[in-house]
Amino acid sequence: MDRRTLLAVGPVLMNTAPALLKGATEKQGYSWAEIDKMLARGDVRGKLTRADLPTPALILDLDAFESNVDKMTKHARANNRALRPHGKTHKTPEIAKALIRAGAVGACAAKVSEAEVFAKNGVSGLLVTTAVIGKYKIERAVTLATAHRETIFSVDNAQNVRDLNDAAGAAKIKMNVMIDLLVGGRTGIKSGDPALGLAQLIASQPNLRLAGIQAYAGGASHTVGFEARKQASLAAMLPAVETRRMIEKAGIECKLLSGGSTGTYNIDSGIDGITELQPGSFMFMDVDYNRIGGQDGPVYRDFKNSLSVLTTVVSKPSDETAIVDGGLKAFSTDKPFPPQAKSIEGIGFSWGGDEHGRLNLAKASAAVNLGDRLEFIIPHCDPSVNLYDRMYCVRGDQVEAVWKVAARGMSQ
Ligand SMILES: Cc1ncc(COP(=O)(O)O)c(C=O)c1O
Repeated sequence: MDRRTLLAVGPVLMNTAPALLKGATEKQGYSWAEIDKMLARGDVRGKLTRADLPTPALILDLDAFESNVDKMTKHARANNRALRPHGKTHKTPEIAKALIRAGAVGACAAKVSEAEVFAKNGVSGLLVTTAVIGKYKIERAVTLATAHRETIFSVDNAQNVRDLNDAAGAAKIKMNVMIDLLVGGRTGIKSGDPALGLAQLIASQPNLRLAGIQAYAGGASHTVGFEARKQASLAAMLPAVETRRMIEKAGIECKLLSGGSTGTYNIDSGIDGITELQPGSFMFMDVDYNRIGGQDGPVYRDFKNSLSVLTTVVSKPSDETAIVDGGLKAFSTDKPFPPQAKSIEGIGFSWGGDEHGRLNLAKASAAVNLGDRLEFIIPHCDPSVNLYDRMYCVRGDQVEAVWKVAARGMSQ
């Protein structure tokens, strides 16, 4: 089959089974050099299809992604909350900018190096959600704040507050800081008096401005069952709301209370005093989030699975076993469950080593053969995205754009 015939047949195959492409051989599609040239020119629209992509490849289904963005932005607007989605999930400036175009006030970044990449690529309204500790990182934070004055940095420690104040003073700037509250059992200062004390210290520093409170309840976000999740989020977030009241009562402005997640967005948006939501995974979703259950049943379907990894069957050792070219280096492996085949039911996946996945086809609902391409929903989106240089954005069978995961590896 030549390329022209394949293009004609491709959409038909995709309509029946969008995540399974049958039997590509080396005679079909573009050569590596041709694809690389197109990528370098950003010239893929109307030219590349899923069948052309070298695997394993990170795939973003644009229809599903746009539907997720639309749902979350509408929800925030309807509930009168700002939206500052977390960029640690996507690490991709194009996505941060798409979210801002849709109404987000900016983007969260987990680390200074991630924020630097976003800022360099035109993303404004950054909140760095992890404390900046040590001379080297403080120096980078001050440089970032000098160029992007609105950037906010999280703090949970008195010495760190003094260090930031000194560094900001030396650079002759005023830095915005947010108190990171301990509400999810990870980082942060305790709610109530300890946080009030830190707010008073910040207010006394000439080179710092208190922007508000950052409260991320990671434990609540993945609590299974909507009612249990609601109780967990209320228990975590109400002390944060009360702490904000205490700080304001003490005469210190504390404008923002930023928190929430994909699992709790529709719980936190109903809590008075939370001013903005910072969910991340909603735009992609993953197996982990599908498991937490929604208001209407055991599968969490508020958002669509827009992200997947496309693989190729590279070996078929027996009728009931196939090997794909996606293994430990193609998916994050931090969860106790494997990737999930997208369009064929009953496929079992187990790790086949660094480069391979082993498929058990005994109960597969369709035949799988050498050269077939299979898409998998990712167990955990954030660390998996961090494994890829680019994501291929598809609409149906066509690749519409290729976005650079520019902050990939920026974990400093
Ligand atoms: C500080 C902070 N805020 C928000 C989020 C977003 O959470 P989710 O991806 O569950 O929506 C995360 C995720 O780890 C986080 O660390």
